[in-house]
Amino acid sequence: MAGIIPKRTLEEIRFRNDIVEVIGAALTLKRAGGTFKACCPFHKEKTPSFNVNAQRQIYHCFGCGKGGDVFSFIQEHEGVDFMTAVRMLADRAGIHLDFEDGDPGERSDKDALYKIHTEIAEFFSRCLEQMKAAEHARGYLKKRELEGEIIRTFGVGYAPKRWDGALQWARKHKFTPEMMEKAGLVIPRNADDPKAGYYDRFRDRLIFPICDIQGRVIGFSGRALSDDARGAKYINSPETLLFRKSRVLYALHQGRRAMVDKREAIICEGQIDVIRCHQAGFTTAVASQGTAFTEDHANILRRYVDSVAIVFDPDHAGEEAAIKTAGIFLSAGLGVRVAALPEGEDPDSFIAKRGGEAFEAILDAAGSVVDFQVAVLARREDLSSDVGVMRAARDVLQTILRSPNSVQQARLMQAAAQHLNLPVAALQDELRHLERRQRRPAPGAEADADEGASQDEAAIPELELKLCEHLVQIEEHPGVGALVEQYFPLAILQDMRCRAVAEVALRAGKGEGTVQELLADEEARIQGLHGFVTRLLMTESRMRLSELAPEDATRDLILRLWRRHLSLERDRLAHEIPLSAASQQRMSQLTLDLNSLKRWVTGLDVIEMEMVD
Ligand code: CTP
Ligand code: MN
Repeated sequence: MAGIIPKRTLEEIRFRNDIVEVIGAALTLKRAGGTFKACCPFHKEKTPSFNVNAQRQIYHCFGCGKGGDVFSFIQEHEGVDFMTAVRMLADRAGIHLDFEDGDPGERSDKDALYKIHTEIAEFFSRCLEQMKAAEHARGYLKKRELEGEIIRTFGVGYAPKRWDGALQWARKHKFTPEMMEKAGLVIPRNADDPKAGYYDRFRDRLIFPICDIQGRVIGFSGRALSDDARGAKYINSPETLLFRKSRVLYALHQGRRAMVDKREAIICEGQIDVIRCHQAGFTTAVASQGTAFTEDHANILRRYVDSVAIVFDPDHAGEEAAIKTAGIFLSAGLGVRVAALPEGEDPDSFIAKRGGEAFEAILDAAGSVVDFQVAVLARREDLSSDVGVMRAARDVLQTILRSPNSVQQARLMQAAAQHLNLPVAALQDELRHLERRQRRPAPGAEADADEGASQDEAAIPELELKLCEHLVQIEEHPGVGALVEQYFPLAILQDMRCRAVAEVALRAGKGEGTVQELLADEEARIQGLHGFVTRLLMTESRMRLSELAPEDATRDLILRLWRRHLSLERDRLAHEIPLSAASQQRMSQLTLDLNSLKRWVTGLDVIEMEMVD
């Protein structure tokens, strides 16, 4: 657990980081009345639908549904966790963070780990440059044509051929062996007996420091210097307080600016591939740490790019991994292209042999994941046989199903139909079939992909949304709250989020806190509330200008919601077979009531009767 920051410190940080200034430093904001507008940094658009509200210190994009406060903006935009965002903003405002409660131990551990990583990376780098015993390492890099500037850019180093190189270094720099173990740099000789001492994890290896998004070293990857060396070709830092492989992308720190320009990232398998790409000017290349790509990786990249080009090894494992990885990026809503290298080459060897222009051509020729997958399947299946085509179709459709976007799906379907020589309609049937089979066992499995906020919102009944827009003004217009309190039971609301917002607003009306504060507590409880609320608060500020008599508007909404409620009941009764006498009578009553509910004066009687029931 990260240290808990006292609420007032958070408020202080928020207060001293004006959202307009913070966002204005990252985007070009244009003033439009009480709000500021920009093109959304979180999705691609030409007309600005990203709004910043200076008064409420929140932002919201009406295009993609993202929204929040200054902290969530930094989290999203910089791709960092909450604590890091807090720290960055505290730094910006010159606020010193002292952690009164929470776990100061972990905080200081983390600080110590950053220090160890930064300093030992410099040590490894000096070893590579200067050590006599590193001659073979320098020779190796020379042989692989990795020299000069690029080595410094990536901080490549060398870990000496000793069992206690890192340990000795630590002693000299006053880091304890226990801290070195927490950094993953040394390993206990005997896990059960701490007195038995430690030995270096990285020995006689090239060292590639792995950095976080801010460029701080958080882990290492060590490559053996000869292919017949004992042990694995690559050894990586274990998971530590700083290093979480499922979230770390090699070279993201160096590549993200170029990514924002190009809107596409190149996805490789290995560090050396990435370094070679950057050396040749392909500065948007990243890789994972020899582990599979995850949803987290995809979500991080989505902050910078709209699509990815996957360039993996053209062997069996590489092809399988490319298709699997493509699925992960597709489901994150990214465009995906897959490039095919000639047999036996990886991006590194290909660029080294054939140069950047040839690699550019390979990237240009990269087609859709379906093109790639069919080409792979064609080598393994007999696509002239029925069974072969059926199997291939099923595999390809599984990939297509990953895409949440109908346009993207349609395009992939067309490609699949063409390649497999099948009518699109047949594939569509099959797709729906697969979809039904998969959706059933795990409903909501996709919902926690956290996006789709704007889709969800479309499902919110218009009237309920409107009522919420009124209710969040409760502090300025207590009359709105009083009307709802008196004439409208919230249980009638069908949407969970609307009900939550309405309940909170009424509590705020009783002075329990501000709407925004109380909502912040609810957000943890109700999924999808966050985007909904920021949108709501934005709409409300727009509406306030046009709506001169919120109480009148609220009365109208209450009447309409009651009408909806009662006509639903009438519909239910109308389906009753046989219709009982009591139901018959109730139906007639409802017809009269619905008529009365058209005006407030006559509707009040109905409402009061219903509230008593
Ligand atoms: N990898 C790893 N552990 C291994 C092997 C590989 O973590 N035992 C990861 C590394 O991140 C490496 C990537 O997988 O960069 C690609 O490995 P591989 O395809 O084996 O790389 P090669 O191209 O064969 O190696 P190199 O380019 O370093 O010669
Ligand atoms: Mn390689």
